Amino acid sequence: MSDAALAQRALVTGGAGFIGSNLVRFLLGRGLDVLNVDALTYAGNLDSLADVAADTRYRFARADVRDRAALERLFAEFDPQLVFHLAAESHVDRSIVAPEDFVTTNVVGTFTLLEVARRAWGDDGARRFVHVSTDEVYGSLGETGRFSETTRYDPSSPYSASKAGADHLAHAYHRTYGLPVIVTNCSNNYGPRQFPEKLIPLMITRAMAGEPLPVYGAGDNVRDWLYVDDHCEALWAVAQRGKPGRDYNIGGDEERRNLEIVQLVCAELERVRPASDNAALGGRAYRELITFVEDRPGHDYRYAIDAARLRDELGFSPRESFESGLRKTIGWYLDNARWVERATSGAYRDWIEDNYGARLDR
Ligand code: NAD
Ligand code: TYD
Repeated sequence: MSDAALAQRALVTGGAGFIGSNLVRFLLGRGLDVLNVDALTYAGNLDSLADVAADTRYRFARADVRDRAALERLFAEFDPQLVFHLAAESHVDRSIVAPEDFVTTNVVGTFTLLEVARRAWGDDGARRFVHVSTDEVYGSLGETGRFSETTRYDPSSPYSASKAGADHLAHAYHRTYGLPVIVTNCSNNYGPRQFPEKLIPLMITRAMAGEPLPVYGAGDNVRDWLYVDDHCEALWAVAQRGKPGRDYNIGGDEERRNLEIVQLVCAELERVRPASDNAALGGRAYRELITFVEDRPGHDYRYAIDAARLRDELGFSPRESFESGLRKTIGWYLDNARWVERATSGAYRDWIEDNYGARLDR
């Protein structure tokens, strides 16, 4: 299919979140009309879309994916040819503290959206419903091996279990009703506009503020990192050329241990904003802020993606290396101090206290 033959109206759920706001921008750049459907939870941030808000091809609707009537209305009005479903509760640590919203949003919300799409689309096989999921559904790897699309689901946290449930529903809607659903399972994303509860933006923002950098356990857990723009490109490739009913793993082929990442963040900050020029550091180097804290319960040791299917069938490979992506990411956070300030005020402080208070006081 050429770009010209492609669908013009895309509905993105969770478009005010980290990946969603980058995807909305990406799709507008491709000339699509985009409807962003987002409930604006703590993780939804319209500041991330301020620069596209006035674009006549962009529309925002505040709605919850658990609200069937609202979704039906939006489908009737906008008649999307493409759905990218990203709305979710997405943070593992929060799912350990308060799992309920993970089940209702991730499982029931996905069910509700699938059901509304099925009824609105009938048997129109030219539409596409891209269900965006995570590699965490596969559980944990040891020192070797990688996840492929045939790896057995074995989720560890309430977050990954709820995403696994949603993935199964998405597949069931294809097998049972023929809904043109594609499921993607992606590794850890990083990049601009990520809420500073996740590892990389948390470490950047805390280091800049001279606060302890809490590394769980010994910091030897491994994640496979993908720059968010590469994820957007991959989702686009899947929507254009992916086969309905199939799943695609998406990864960066960039495995790093957590401690190495925190050290890289410190080194890059030292280079671009030396601690000696940052009053918040009080004479310390950034790396002196690294603090080992109590581990996450059920902490998956290692994730790594075998993305051969995406490469061989759809011709997709990521462009950004981890080092260049991390430099860009740090640059973005330094250049967007106001976004950071607004994101880390209010309820954010309560989360830091809830999750890290006792760990850092030890
Ligand atoms: P995020 O937490 O930054 O954003 C989630 C968005 O969903 C927010 O804008 C929030 O307001 C919205 N939302 C939450 N509950 C909602 C509800 N009930 N109704 C409507 N909107 C709701 O998440 P993210 O990191 O951008 O992740 C987006 C998707 O990608 C998620 O489905 C996640 O599981 C998946 N994913 C994320 C990663 C990653 O590394 N961040 C990796 C693989 C897959
Ligand atoms: P995170 O960004 O929460 O993503 P996920 O748990 O979905 O992989 O965490 C990435 C890794 O970083 C994970 O192994 C947990 C670790 N981590 C810390 O060591 N300290 C922290 O404060 C956070 C948030 C994460």
